[in-house]
Amino acid sequence: MAKATQSDPFKVADGDRPASSQPLFHQHGVEVQKFGKMRLFPLALNFEVRLESVQLLNQIVSDSMILYALYKKHHWLVRGPTFFQLHLLLDKHADEQLKLIDLLAERVQTLGGVAVGDPRLAAEITTIPRPPDGAEEVPAMLSRLLEAHEIIIEKVREAITKTAENRDDGTNDLLMSDVLRTNELQVWFVAEHLVDIPVVRV
Ligand SMILES: [Fe+2]
Repeated sequence: MAKATQSDPFKVADGDRPASSQPLFHQHGVEVQKFGKMRLFPLALNFEVRLESVQLLNQIVSDSMILYALYKKHHWLVRGPTFFQLHLLLDKHADEQLKLIDLLAERVQTLGGVAVGDPRLAAEITTIPRPPDGAEEVPAMLSRLLEAHEIIIEKVREAITKTAENRDDGTNDLLMSDVLRTNELQVWFVAEHLVDIPVVRV
């Protein structure tokens, strides 16, 4: 039976086979793929097309991460007579945005890129204005969400046009079927809460 050496208890004396299942902590390495660099997969899509799609997708990933965070913030901070309804609705929309972020980021990886993962990088890339750290009035919170949606929707429409021109059909389908339609539907549900009509007429 192989024995661990004195100098390295995780190495066996007669080869590189591990002598125990002890995890090796505090490992640090170099980046194996820099952000913005591409890997090559056999997708029959040229480099420029994949690179452009990755850049468009990462912009939308970043904006969607910020919108997700806005939904969670407002889910917590709404108040008043419609608190419970809005509390539930905003959380549902946050969950749906999170699913979109996953689909978008995995599309970036599928194309050979590096998806935006750290929210601090997303904050540098996004064009959605930063909200105050405190609580706003409820209609202002809802308006802020709608403005964030429109920023995303505008970029999604441009990306749909570009990916159609480039024949990146997989990205095009994701943007149209999932991202655009989900955002449009969420706009409707939020916007209905900004209609100034009485609940009951006398
Ligand atoms: Fe919650």
